[in-house]
Amino acid sequence: MDKLLESIDLILQCTTSQRNNPGAVLLLGAPGVGKGTQADLQARLWDIPKISTGEILRTNVASRTALGLQADRIMKSGGLVPDQIVTEMVTNRLEFSDTVTGFILDGFPRNIRQAQWLDQYLCTHRKGEIPAIVYMCMDYGQILQRVAYRRVCPLCKTVYNTLFMPPKQIGRCDKDNHELEQRSDDTVEVLEERLRVFRRETEPLVQYYRDHSNVIEIDAGQSSSLVTKDIVSGLTEFRSALGNGSLNK
Ligand code: AP5
Repeated sequence: MDKLLESIDLILQCTTSQRNNPGAVLLLGAPGVGKGTQADLQARLWDIPKISTGEILRTNVASRTALGLQADRIMKSGGLVPDQIVTEMVTNRLEFSDTVTGFILDGFPRNIRQAQWLDQYLCTHRKGEIPAIVYMCMDYGQILQRVAYRRVCPLCKTVYNTLFMPPKQIGRCDKDNHELEQRSDDTVEVLEERLRVFRRETEPLVQYYRDHSNVIEIDAGQSSSLVTKDIVSGLTEFRSALGNGSLNK
């Protein structure tokens, strides 16, 4: 809790333009490192929307839309949904006016093609804005525990962990008392495939972004509030370096 207050303090210390305009933020990291958890917290702290491609896809799967039916099998196998589907989803969401001062992308881009598409999008729609790249790293050993014990509220999408971030009442959401569920891709077999896909498709993105800009590396194995604080510090430093032209490119 103290660390969360420190994070808020850090934001309050930002210049008005930084605070009001945190810009585009991309959260990269392996499955289960805590991207969704931090996307929620950072979105609330900076007052910008989070855009989670995984969550949008799961909502489509649950409502059995045409897109959901197409994505369901791929997600259950641990693979990546075709780029065209995902970029269209992201384009549609970025058109909302709440993204003007900034947004957090959770789980996008996932490969070099998606990153190149995003570069082009930022160039044509956001005056070539340079996004902040937050890379959340953690030992693969810790990932299994995070994923195996994850439970999600299907109604409000709040994410819990029965070991590390348990709900107040076993099996029930703190916010709406709905029964918590396990994601269908949170099995050991599917996780192994998701990790293989991550190493092959997504990890090369870190070097891609290192070549273009700065990458903010975060130790995601710490407690959630320490991770939150480190991301806030990283974003604050990044924006001020960008503002005074000292970004190491
Ligand atoms: P997506 O939902 O994005 O899955 P992911 O990237 O595999 O990430 P996860 O949601 O599993 O983990 P997370 O990092 O968000 O961790 P969380 O915060 O939940 O994508 C799912 C699927 O959709 C993909 O496999 C693919 O098929 C498709 N897809 C999505 N985007 C796509 C794209 N761009 N292109 C193509 N296909 C796409 O935390 C994990 C657990 O740890 C929770 O239980 C949480 O409570 C706990 N926890 C979090 N932080 C901490 C902490 N600091 N300490 C202790 N516990 C913690």
